[in-house]
Amino acid sequence: MKILFLDQSGKPGGAELCLIDIAKPYADSSLVGLFADGDFRKLLQQHQIPVEILATQAIKVNKDSGLLAALGSLGQLIPLINQVVQRAKKYDLIYANTQKALVVGAIASFLSRCPLVYHLHDILSIEHFSKTNLRVAITLINQFASLVIANSQASKQAFLEAGGKSNIIEVVYNGFELHNYQISVQSGIKIKQELNLEDKFIIGHFSRLSPWKGQHILINALVNCPENVTAILVGDALFGEQDYVKDLHQKVTSLGLEDRVKFLGFRADIPQLMTACDLVAHTSTAPEPFGRVIVEAMLCGKPVVAAKAGGVMELVEHEINGFLVTPGNPQELAEVINSCVQDSHKTEIIAQNARISASLRFDVTTINQQISKLLHLLANNVQ
Ligand code: UDP
Ligand code: GLC
Repeated sequence: MKILFLDQSGKPGGAELCLIDIAKPYADSSLVGLFADGDFRKLLQQHQIPVEILATQAIKVNKDSGLLAALGSLGQLIPLINQVVQRAKKYDLIYANTQKALVVGAIASFLSRCPLVYHLHDILSIEHFSKTNLRVAITLINQFASLVIANSQASKQAFLEAGGKSNIIEVVYNGFELHNYQISVQSGIKIKQELNLEDKFIIGHFSRLSPWKGQHILINALVNCPENVTAILVGDALFGEQDYVKDLHQKVTSLGLEDRVKFLGFRADIPQLMTACDLVAHTSTAPEPFGRVIVEAMLCGKPVVAAKAGGVMELVEHEINGFLVTPGNPQELAEVINSCVQDSHKTEIIAQNARISASLRFDVTTINQQISKLLHLLANNVQ
């Protein structure tokens, strides 16, 4: 099947990393069109996935800016839509992976008569988007998409509540290459040494630095944990959240936690770093649509404490394969951290359960079969 994948971002966020796994089986006959250049393009090339930067001029592709802004800059988008329409003629499907890709993909699908698939990576609710943006997104999807793939039941539910059509949406979770997460204990110990944290209890936080990802919640929780509990914050401000980064550094200084919080920036060796951790924390303050980092930690056999909202509740069962805490509550987070510090035996059992359940549910081979089935069904129906 020939697929024209579209993604607005040049940077590798979760939706982009998910797209690599989805596009790989179609690499021989497909193309990923990006609206901006960056490290994501390099990653696609490393995976031998054909990629082209389609934007002929710099369009504003701040991932968090609104859909309305995208429609407002329609004039600017016309050359881009043109490029997509020209290419779409050679493909069976347009597969839009982000919201601005949806805008461009919807119009290009209409003009080229090439069916549109939309991968919904977001919870379309007012916690994440303005009412107008929600209306625009739902209208475009209902009008132009033949299939919506939601990354969780939570994302699907929000789509339906916002007025999305129920007969076009299916849930497919993100898939993961299991062997990438089977890291030796030795590698973990080596990283601990490199970080100079051999004798510490390390909590890892793996996410772009952004207010709703809640790194500040973990920093606040540390105040109520023993001295040897240390946090590594892995990730960068991918979409212009520099003020938040400044706030985080200030918070660390004002709480006197300089020796207990390390900012590691964006890293490509996530499984290795996770293996060095004693606990992985997820602290999003708004409902997380899916939460790749949670599954990745589970696959590494690490205990996870996660914010109980959105897709997270489909991944973690409290005290069975992880821990759930109230979003935005550092006190509760500190209590879970402290119980993990104290009862390492119970925590280890939970982490092993996590590895087993995540391996069974999120193997990329099975997930890709689910996607392939949906795409073939669609292709047969539109013929
Ligand atoms: N990630 C990474 N390097 C970093 C921080 C994060 O490769 O320094 C990856 C992480 O392993 C995960 C993805 O970025 O696969 C983030 O996806 P998630 O679904 O957790 O959140 P998103 O940022 O997409 O909302
Ligand atoms: C988005 C969501 C995240 C999800 C990822 C992959 O970036 O914010 O929760 O895991 O897409 O579907």
